[in-house]
Amino acid sequence: MEDYYWDNKLEYLRNTRDLYYNDDYLEFLVNSVWKISKPVRIIDYGCGYGYLGIKLLPLLPKGSTYKGIDKGQQLINKAKSLFQNLPYDVEFIVADVTEIELESKYDIAVCHAFLLHMADPKKMLQKMINSVIDKGNIICFEPHWISNMSSYHLNNYDQSEIIQLGFLQKLFEKDTKRNGKDGNIGIKLPTYLSELGVKNIDCRISDKVNFLDYNTIQTDKQSLYDSLKEEGLGSSPAEKEEFIEALIERGTSFDEAQEQYEAELRFSKVFNIDSSLTYAPNMKITFGVVKNRE
Ligand SMILES: C[S@@+](CC[C@H](N)C(=O)[O-])C[C@H]1O[C@@H](n2cnc3c(N)ncnc32)[C@H](O)[C@@H]1O
Repeated sequence: MEDYYWDNKLEYLRNTRDLYYNDDYLEFLVNSVWKISKPVRIIDYGCGYGYLGIKLLPLLPKGSTYKGIDKGQQLINKAKSLFQNLPYDVEFIVADVTEIELESKYDIAVCHAFLLHMADPKKMLQKMINSVIDKGNIICFEPHWISNMSSYHLNNYDQSEIIQLGFLQKLFEKDTKRNGKDGNIGIKLPTYLSELGVKNIDCRISDKVNFLDYNTIQTDKQSLYDSLKEEGLGSSPAEKEEFIEALIERGTSFDEAQEQYEAELRFSKVFNIDSSLTYAPNMKITFGVVKNRE
């Protein structure tokens, strides 16, 4: 498991989660939208280092439990150590969720930035649904990449100079057709859950808009800048030939790949800690009730 991709992404995960939701918004979801007033048993699919547990458990009624499952041994080790001295009833297991069977005993099945990595997301959704009791809930926090990509503003630059929306829209669609994995899954989950018989479906959008203010001293914005870089904003593209070849393999033309290279290179050159930039990740949070289960 040492070479497992996500085990090497702990720093990325820990540095980027704060870009998505303000704590008061999560509190609003738990108390005003989901109205969780009794202890609940939660299962988190692809829990990583336990991000959702860390965010949700302090907001949930005392007595709630949280079980996290992830394929990454290192991520689960981190989760265990983070919770070691916290007063919550948690359990973490290392497993491939496509392979294990889970009992139907949870009140809520959750996932965060997980379904987009599934080659058959509907099958996984069915598994999540199967793991909750009658009238239990399913809650999925998932990205909607093209909406994310449209929500950048870098001062002094036309957005089209750094982000080619039409090209990316097609690229994401092509990728999904090729391997089933869908970075835009967030916006499709209301439909998918309805197809799978989930009721009372509703969908919210993440509230956070990150603002890197050129007018603030560096020490106050270093951590936001580092998170944005870790999220991939203004990342240097790979070496030109390699970059273009990789995009052509994903079904683009040479000219499109070259233009994308130029756009990414431009973004990487002009974005720095003194830039004035706004960025809204636009995660979609879809939830519903699993009814009439035996
Ligand atoms: C983008 S990360 C999100 C982690 C966490 N939910 C978070 O938001 O911090 C995707 C996670 O899904 C996990 N994952 C992907 N496929 C998996 C599988 N088949 N079984 C278990 N975990 C899986 C990865 O190990 C990784 O931790």
